[in-house]
Amino acid sequence: MTSTTTKTRLYSSRIDLPEDTRSQIITILNQSLATTLDLKTQVKQAHWNVKGLNFYSLHLLFDELAGELEGYVDMIAERVTALGGYAMGTARRAASESILPEYPLNIDNGTDHIVALADRFGVYAKSLREAIDKTDNLGDADTADLYTEISRTADMRLWFLEAHLQGNANQPLASH
Ligand SMILES: [Fe+2]
Repeated sequence: MTSTTTKTRLYSSRIDLPEDTRSQIITILNQSLATTLDLKTQVKQAHWNVKGLNFYSLHLLFDELAGELEGYVDMIAERVTALGGYAMGTARRAASESILPEYPLNIDNGTDHIVALADRFGVYAKSLREAIDKTDNLGDADTADLYTEISRTADMRLWFLEAHLQGNANQPLASH
């Protein structure tokens, strides 16, 4: 439904990328915009509602993650507009186009929030790595570079989250 809408909102531009290429990249970027907005609100949900002995460190960590995502929302939206596209960044758009499942609204302890966020950062990081290759194959090294930057941070943040779940006998190293 959305790709058609997005493809019709393309401005002519002096940028040296063909219209069809720009249109395909804008569709990818608008999907990432929706997902990144969704993830930011989910991380804020965790920031506000986490409980337990690790409350303060998790409260601060989650806000740091949300701040990073907010920056990426702006960078992704403005890459859309730099390509002559129309950024689709409302809350309703994020809710309908995000690749993530809704955040669980009935959890409170730190471990449950970390698992919920790690699950979502895993999905997010995979989509970013795929977007690097897709935009690179479309001949847009700049958008691929933007995705590479976000992807590197998403991998690091997945590590930050998963480190809370590792390091004990119940979570041994994977055997392969
Ligand atoms: Fe806050």
